[in-house]
Amino acid sequence: MEPVIPDLRRTPKAEAYNRLVEMQTVLLAGHSDALAGMATTSALLHHAFGHLWTGFYRVVEPDTLLRVGPYQGSLGCLDIAFGRGVCGTAAAERRTVVVPDVHAFPGHIACDGRSQSEIVVPVFDADGALLAVLDIDSDQPARFDDVDAAGLEWLVDWFRTTRR
Ligand code: SME
Repeated sequence: MEPVIPDLRRTPKAEAYNRLVEMQTVLLAGHSDALAGMATTSALLHHAFGHLWTGFYRVVEPDTLLRVGPYQGSLGCLDIAFGRGVCGTAAAERRTVVVPDVHAFPGHIACDGRSQSEIVVPVFDADGALLAVLDIDSDQPARFDDVDAAGLEWLVDWFRTTRR
């Protein structure tokens, strides 16, 4: 087990996600608490890749409202309605949304003016209910692709496969 989060910015993405899933598995072994999982997963992703903002918006009113959860980075907005912004769109449509240019996304909610691109991944629990979304913002344009989508969906599978 590595004592610190590795810098994976120059590691091929598929390999980087492999290493993060391995670390997540070890770090969360024996735990099932969703907030502990969100905090640990945010820290791993944020520091390994040097993102601008990495964190979770939790479903606090099903099909209606998301509220900020554990995150790393600059201040995030607190509440997001389903259907609003990238997070609300991913939550309402229950699918991963990759935004290469946030300025071109209608309704994008700008929490940090430096954000250029974004990815939002839905997080499901063991019953198939939407628990949260994982939101990552980058100051690099077009930072996220299908490899990130697959890697992040693999990381958030912890919430689906962990019974609580
Ligand atoms: N950009 C997001 C809002 C959340 S923050 O960027 C942390 C959105 O459009 O949903």
